[in-house]
Amino acid sequence: MEQAQADQAFFDLQPQLLAWSREWLQQLGQRPVARPDDPSPPELALPGQGLGLAGVWQAFCQDLAPGFNASPGPRYLGFVTGGVTPAALAGDWLTAVIDQNVASAGNSIATGVELQVLDWLRQLLDLPEGLVGSLTTGATAANLLAMVCARQHAGWRQGRDIARDGIGPAAIRVFSATPHASSLKVLGLVGLGREQIAAVPCLPDSEAMDVAALAAMLAASPEPGKIVIASAGTVTGTDFDDLTAIAALCRQHQAWLHVDGAFGLFSRLDPSRHGWTAGIELADSITCDGHKWLNVPYDCGIFFTPHADLLQQCCSVAAPYLEMHDSLPALMDRGIEQSRRFRALPLWFSLLAYGRDGMRHIVEENCRQASALAEWLQASPDYELLKPPRLNVVIFRPRHAEAMAVLTRLNAAGEVFMTPGVWQGQKGIRAAFSNWRTEASDVVRVCQALARASQA
Ligand SMILES: Cc1ncc(COP(=O)(O)O)c(C=O)c1O
Repeated sequence: MEQAQADQAFFDLQPQLLAWSREWLQQLGQRPVARPDDPSPPELALPGQGLGLAGVWQAFCQDLAPGFNASPGPRYLGFVTGGVTPAALAGDWLTAVIDQNVASAGNSIATGVELQVLDWLRQLLDLPEGLVGSLTTGATAANLLAMVCARQHAGWRQGRDIARDGIGPAAIRVFSATPHASSLKVLGLVGLGREQIAAVPCLPDSEAMDVAALAAMLAASPEPGKIVIASAGTVTGTDFDDLTAIAALCRQHQAWLHVDGAFGLFSRLDPSRHGWTAGIELADSITCDGHKWLNVPYDCGIFFTPHADLLQQCCSVAAPYLEMHDSLPALMDRGIEQSRRFRALPLWFSLLAYGRDGMRHIVEENCRQASALAEWLQASPDYELLKPPRLNVVIFRPRHAEAMAVLTRLNAAGEVFMTPGVWQGQKGIRAAFSNWRTEASDVVRVCQALARASQA
């Protein structure tokens, strides 16, 4: 491949790339929100001689472009899926152009930018000074880092360097009430076992932990290594564990406190909800997500811990070719990957472009939209609101039909996309608002789509 010619092919394509991108963004609101028919790409043999960029562009436009959903659009309410702010998009585009590997310091401004962004995020979320952090591929990876550090802490309590010597006979117990599915996955990955979690009961009609029950369970647990996984915003009820009380218990029992606030932590941007996460300053590790409510592109998670030494013990491996001497830390020593995408740049663009006020506005608007949908559902003869929303998630069910049947009809119509949810054993439909593009008029369209879907 001749370099100048290959670059020229990209330059020649730029007008079309830009035109396509502009049309995609401008038409997001009109596109089918989801493609439940799950389109497949046409069978294509791997070419011996490539098609060239112009040829690939044609194939993309013809074969792939029609198959995408409008998940970054305003009425995709599945899971907790953020969109992409224009500033974040500009940053992400440049991330690929610049293509920095933010592994070690001493050779680019990129490490300094990630450290700056982590400090902005700490300030945005009003977290204490002295935390070290790492940008990850998502909240699952942040939860993985948390459990790796927690496991190391539990090992040291038994005189064992687990990162070096393995878990061996170390006895470790994990306590949680409503862990996100990703935490269960992580417990499997780190060898603590998905099914070995000690299930703490919840408070009545809530997904929040019963702290009195946790106190009794911690006191009764003979294992010297104890880990508590608390939630700052459960995925269905958006319930918050009492972090102040749980942190006090963790101190008493020398247990590690991890807080998963993948999206719920953004409640701290809203003064009326800030108090829900009081006590988080005492956490040993914290998970948050950029690709949810911060509306930066996939993939971007956020991990914080005050235990820089433990994180380093778990993530740093000596190799002669990696040795660098610089005043800044090597960020590969604070995360899973050695080679790391410059995912700080979209955050840098977005946080600087819109500031704290812009981010708070997104959170407050999305919460208002969740309340508006809940009000409509309460007034509707066809639906039952299963729980008044506290944040951005609404859980409800149809009164006269099966939830899955209505959800399938709703999503097939392409106007809106939601996902299933279960509240206190009742199957329902779950709508999560976390996109900066969503407006009051979208909520009206969502209600109209729900009204149609309820008619078999
Ligand atoms: C509370 C919580 N934790 C963890 C995750 C996993 O996040 P990710 O998909 O970014 O890995 C999610 C995703 O919805 C979540 O809501």
